[in-house]
Amino acid sequence: VPDWRSALAGRSSFGLVLGVYTSEKDDGAAQFTSAGDAFDRLVSGKLRALLCGPPLKKGKTRIFHGLHQDFPSVVVVGLGKKNAGINEQENWNEGKENIRTAVAVGCRQIQDLEIPCVEVDPCGDAQAAAEGAVLGLHEYNELKQKKKPVVSPQLHGSAESQAWQKGVIYAEGQNLARYLMEAPANYITPIKFAEHIEQKLRTFSNVKVHIRPESWITTQEMGAFLSVAKGSAEPPIFLEIHYLGGAITNDSPLVFVGKGVTFDSGGISLKPSLGMDAMRADMGGAATVCSTIVTAAALNLPLNIIGLAPLCENMPSGKANKPGDVVRAKNGKTIQVDNTDAEGRLLLADALCYAHNFNARAIVNAATLTGAMDVALGSAATGVFTNSSWLWTHLYEASILTGDRVWRMPLFEHYTKQVTDCPLADVSNIGKYSRAGGACTAAAFLKEFVTASHWAHLDIAGVMSNKDEVPYLRKGMAGRPTRTLVEFAARLSQDSHNAK
Ligand code: BES
Ligand code: ZN
Ligand code: ZN
Repeated sequence: VPDWRSALAGRSSFGLVLGVYTSEKDDGAAQFTSAGDAFDRLVSGKLRALLCGPPLKKGKTRIFHGLHQDFPSVVVVGLGKKNAGINEQENWNEGKENIRTAVAVGCRQIQDLEIPCVEVDPCGDAQAAAEGAVLGLHEYNELKQKKKPVVSPQLHGSAESQAWQKGVIYAEGQNLARYLMEAPANYITPIKFAEHIEQKLRTFSNVKVHIRPESWITTQEMGAFLSVAKGSAEPPIFLEIHYLGGAITNDSPLVFVGKGVTFDSGGISLKPSLGMDAMRADMGGAATVCSTIVTAAALNLPLNIIGLAPLCENMPSGKANKPGDVVRAKNGKTIQVDNTDAEGRLLLADALCYAHNFNARAIVNAATLTGAMDVALGSAATGVFTNSSWLWTHLYEASILTGDRVWRMPLFEHYTKQVTDCPLADVSNIGKYSRAGGACTAAAFLKEFVTASHWAHLDIAGVMSNKDEVPYLRKGMAGRPTRTLVEFAARLSQDSHNAK
């Protein structure tokens, strides 16, 4: 029992969130979860009586005060139909999504009432319930004097506490990515990003963090990355994380690479000012992969993971890349920088070359790479470009469970031709038909720096932020698809038979 709880004289500060299914029968009787049933018995059927009438719709709530002395406020929230499972059209588990949404809505209502503690009905899936609670309550409050009241969600009842804890860890992982993405670019500079991650990993003895300075990047001959970084007064960092959770220290690692542009102004190919502030989240790739490793460490996943994040700003200045400049990547390929706003692929070119040093089981990179990805899929799913059906299957199956979906995109030679037909260099950093298939030409560009047979590029530009599409995330930077990457890593740690 946590001590804050015994310290409380009464339980006036406790709320309870209970799910209720939309009745399948016509009698209008509420279909309780087992926690709801138990609570209804505790209050001698009063809850059932109060809920008669039209059934609560999915995500809609009713609040009751004074039903029971232990829970002065009870929020009942609609879970949708009972027995919802995998929806083949939607490519996700609808039951889990319903629970995440219902719990998030219920917990926020408790927060609005300024009740500091809430117990949550596991609704038959304590992991999903915990995710809903912890994701739903998260908000970036850091820099405001007036903050939302802190609510700590707890599992109601004693069953499923392991699953609950797992859900808390998954959601906190995504919240870490959201925090880093939402924070202003003058707070999360390359060095601050690296130090924040280092601090999160400090407690784990099986994690080593290297914060590589500019001199190291130069020695590595990462000319493409450096060409972007030199436009800014803020020095670049190459963050390298080694998580050794595998049984054998030199087990082939899973290597994650994340685009870490802490602010993307576009450089000399300057972006329009409207909405430019959102480009503080252009380190979303780095944020999601580093948060995934923090989460893997918290879960003590039995595999080795390496995380690589090239971190810099993309700024216009007298030292910045100019359209038409040619730079040399780590593998010797020359790149014509036809648009300085296509900078993410320059960082990733070098980081992907470096990723080949580790005899990886798989290389997975994430990047807020193209506005075209947002045009293609919006925020419904992360676009996955991969040369490996084995990798694809693992990512896809992970995403069905997490509800943070992926969708496979093509890596056709068709697009490769459009980036390798270049006047001055081996590759151009934009496709020659400029906007057509922009997400695909960007992926084709990255492929020029990959020889590994299990590589996936995740374009997360479309899922970078949330308005109200994902009901269990508030408006703001989304931290997607961190939970899918965690679930994916967990699956790889189970899959001892590498596809190699
Ligand atoms: N960081 C942007 C992509 C982006 C746009 C992410 C909107 C999230 C939301 C990237 O560096 C970029 O500017 N890409 C250009 C590429 C183009 C110049 C070929 C784009 O998408 O316009
Ligand atoms: Zn850009
Ligand atoms: Zn960018």
